Amino acid sequence: DADLAAQGETVFKKCKACHQVGEGAKNKVGPILNGVVGAPVAHIEDFKYSKDLTTAHDEGVVWDEAHLAEFLAKPKGVYKKTKMSFAGLKKDDDINAVIEYLKSVSQ
Ligand code: HEM
Repeated sequence: DADLAAQGETVFKKCKACHQVGEGAKNKVGPILNGVVGAPVAHIEDFKYSKDLTTAHDEGVVWDEAHLAEFLAKPKGVYKKTKMSFAGLKKDDDINAVIEYLKSVSQ
């Protein structure tokens, strides 16, 4: 839904300190997020992830929307030692919107 994706672009301002998306995106503090929705956890080859995320990758865990939603609500609640120093998004609306935005930049 385009409106929700547009709303998510605003939410994504909170992520931009660490993440880039779109054409020409580069790894920064956090990995590139192109294609992350539906992708395996920790799929960016040249990014150095925490052990928690690489273990999840090895176990075959995928960022489906449900898993992404719980991570974005409270990153350290899902992966205790994640390197993502971000408290999380409090509003379900913001979580849904930012996921929709990530899908829209993920083609
Ligand atoms: C990892 C999304 C905010 C730093 C990730 C991953 C996602 C994500 C989906 C997993 C990527 C993968 O498996 O390839 C977001 C979103 C944010 C946000 C949507 C805003 C709502 C931030 C902020 C920072 C940050 C503000 C820096 C202060 C990181 C780091 C990782 C990561 C360092 C790697 C985690 C690890 O290896 O444990 N982020 N992020 N993120 N993010 Fe964020």
